Amino acid sequence: MDETNEVLRKAPLFEALDEEGAAALRASVSEVRLGRGQTLFSEGDEGDRLYVILSGKVKLTRAAVDGRENLLSVLGPSEMFGELSLFDPRPRTASAIAVTDAVMAGLGHDDLRPFIAQQPQVSLQLLKALASRLRRTNDVMSDLVFTDVPGRVAGQLLDLADRFGKEGEDGLHVHHDLTQEELAQLVGASRETVNKALAEFALRGWLRIEAKAVVLLDVERMRRRAR
Ligand code: CMP
Repeated sequence: MDETNEVLRKAPLFEALDEEGAAALRASVSEVRLGRGQTLFSEGDEGDRLYVILSGKVKLTRAAVDGRENLLSVLGPSEMFGELSLFDPRPRTASAIAVTDAVMAGLGHDDLRPFIAQQPQVSLQLLKALASRLRRTNDVMSDLVFTDVPGRVAGQLLDLADRFGKEGEDGLHVHHDLTQEELAQLVGASRETVNKALAEFALRGWLRIEAKAVVLLDVERMRRRAR
């Protein structure tokens, strides 16, 4: 199995399928390549495809009328997006923009619908992915209401660490690939306030700040701060 297949097989859509089913679905996949900063689709566009990330990272963002941006999520390999307009055929609910060079597997909604109807286990996997997204969204919403900015910074870094973290000798390396501005958009606060929280964590020895990355040195303290 080549690397692309391996990444694809871990995606919610493919997880429940046997080899034969996965091969049938793979036949409808077309690859899409994006350069860093390139937009795949914009909020409000009509959507007819779902995507699974094969390599790189993609951010999902929404913009306010005054131009401010809210970063809903940053997704990496095997993660899926663009499924909302499959289940509920209405315009895209967010824009998808590559934060690094990225390759995606695109699947047309029209190709997927009959497949889902024939394979109930695929629907269950997709529902599971949607449920876990709703859980995460609820957590983010509660944090926006109940948690201060440093707590939210700690929470978002731990969430990024869960998906992109790699254990190193000196700590947990989280290469998130986000600018300071994007990190602030993810936390839902100004860049200044987020930077202040990061500097405070660094001063306490809980993390080290690197270019588009952090190294978490004391995960337990970060967890307690995120609560
Ligand atoms: P769709 O509306 O087709 O296009 C934008 C996609 O962004 C959407 O499908 C979801 O896949 C994804 N998306 C929307 N809201 C969130 C969220 N809160 N967290 C993660 N992904 C989201």
